[in-house]
Amino acid sequence: MAGFDKAAATYDRSRHAMIPDYDDLYGAAVQALELGRAPSPSVLDLGAGTGGFSQEVINACPDCRVELSDLSVPMLEQAKARFAGDARFSYRELDIVTGDFGTGWDRIISSFVIHHLPHDAKREVFGNACAALKPDGIFVNIDQVQACSQAVQDIHMRLWRKDALAAGALEQDLADGIARMEAMDINADLDDQVLWLQRAGFDNVDVVYRNYFWAVFVASKAP
Ligand SMILES: C[S@@+](CC[C@H](N)C(=O)[O-])C[C@H]1O[C@@H](n2cnc3c(N)ncnc32)[C@H](O)[C@@H]1O
Repeated sequence: MAGFDKAAATYDRSRHAMIPDYDDLYGAAVQALELGRAPSPSVLDLGAGTGGFSQEVINACPDCRVELSDLSVPMLEQAKARFAGDARFSYRELDIVTGDFGTGWDRIISSFVIHHLPHDAKREVFGNACAALKPDGIFVNIDQVQACSQAVQDIHMRLWRKDALAAGALEQDLADGIARMEAMDINADLDDQVLWLQRAGFDNVDVVYRNYFWAVFVASKAP
């Protein structure tokens, strides 16, 4: 966790540039949530960090109530500063591997978190997310995926670095991001994750967006 605690203060500085297709990626994720289908939907953000995904959700659906959870207190402090005084947000220090998600959520979201967990913990989180949702609830996970080969992974990495720098990412933030990737990432195959979501109990599972080494998974629970 020390890596995230340390990154918290500067995490948002190059965030949009570090994800050159930010609007398409988050746009696809928010659309997949179908927020208009539930009145005042309750949303749990797993590993919310500074609140980027929660921000997109509230922009799209101002009558949502969003709980931001994270293991890193400095990350949650950044999120609290971002949404200061806004009663639609609540905060919880939570380890998503060992902690309790509660129950009755309309939507559960997560972005760029679950690829940090060992594969068995990923499967555990998928199962717990399914159990914590209401019937007809939706889980949307934006995350990194492993390419089909190291050669393709290297191509994605080169393209991403070029596009991130062109979009204005600071060299320092790019270097820090890559160092965190090398130290902390345990990417899984896209197909494996679809299978794990199905086995976790979700009724419909799909990938609605894919670019570089990230993807948007949508998994809905039976009505
Ligand atoms: C790369 S950041 C992503 C933050 C945010 N979701 C975003 O998209 O900007 C990963 C986040 O996951 C959190 N995290 C990592 N492992 C966690 C765990 N086991 N339980 C809860 N949060 C965790 C970190 O503290 C960090 O805030």
